[in-house]
Amino acid sequence: MGSPRIDVRPVKIVSVALPIFTTRLAMRAYEPGDVDQLHAVLYGDPASMALLGGARDRAGTRASIDRSIVQQELGGYSFWPVFERESGLLIGEAGLCPLSPGGPDISLGYAFGRDFWGRGYATEVGRSVLAAAFGEFGLQRVVAITREANTRSRNVLGKLGFRLDGRRHVWGAEQLYFVLDRNEDGA
Ligand SMILES: CC(C)(COP(=O)(O)OP(=O)(O)OC[C@H]1O[C@@H](n2cnc3c(N)ncnc32)[C@H](O)[C@@H]1OP(=O)(O)O)[C@@H](O)C(=O)NCCC(=O)NCCS
Repeated sequence: MGSPRIDVRPVKIVSVALPIFTTRLAMRAYEPGDVDQLHAVLYGDPASMALLGGARDRAGTRASIDRSIVQQELGGYSFWPVFERESGLLIGEAGLCPLSPGGPDISLGYAFGRDFWGRGYATEVGRSVLAAAFGEFGLQRVVAITREANTRSRNVLGKLGFRLDGRRHVWGAEQLYFVLDRNEDGA
């Protein structure tokens, strides 16, 4: 006779509070119905995805949203769809994801449709995600990766205060590896 079976699945104690609002943008948790808009503006567009491994088919976009929904449930954070508040349009995604399963690194990410570059949106949303990560969510460090050729993303990371800390082979490519510690951000 054994002991009664106990459910030992990890329980999410702390989550990043959603929605997150910035001056011009808003983020909420992903919903399955976001797939068409996300695909049209970002994942299905070769220009927007050129430095992220190329455009995906619709099934790839759906799989990515499904991964974010599971990640949000298990970890209390994930990538989230980003909406332009003035137009209501879904224009891309941003948020946090584990750099590799089991951690410990948690990475900032952002990606917008090509028509929405050059407006300061990535920096605006990045600041809010970092404030939530270092604030209520209590992280001590956030990392970021980007390909060397991704000058725009490197500029964003510089504006957010990240420092280069070497290279890593992540997600199938050689990437620059950046770190930002809690007190460096002033949060
Ligand atoms: C990476 C990416 C998010 C960067 O976007 P971005 O628009 O260049 O970055 P920002 O949001 O910080 O905007 C900066 C630009 O907005 C301009 N800008 C216009 N209005 C602005 C405003 N109100 N406030 C701030 N900047 C403004 C800035 O002058 C700057 O222009 P510049 O590109 O000529 O220097 C975008 O290129 C992208 O989505 N790429 C595809 C996905 C990707 O590679 N993601 C990163 C993976 S690591």
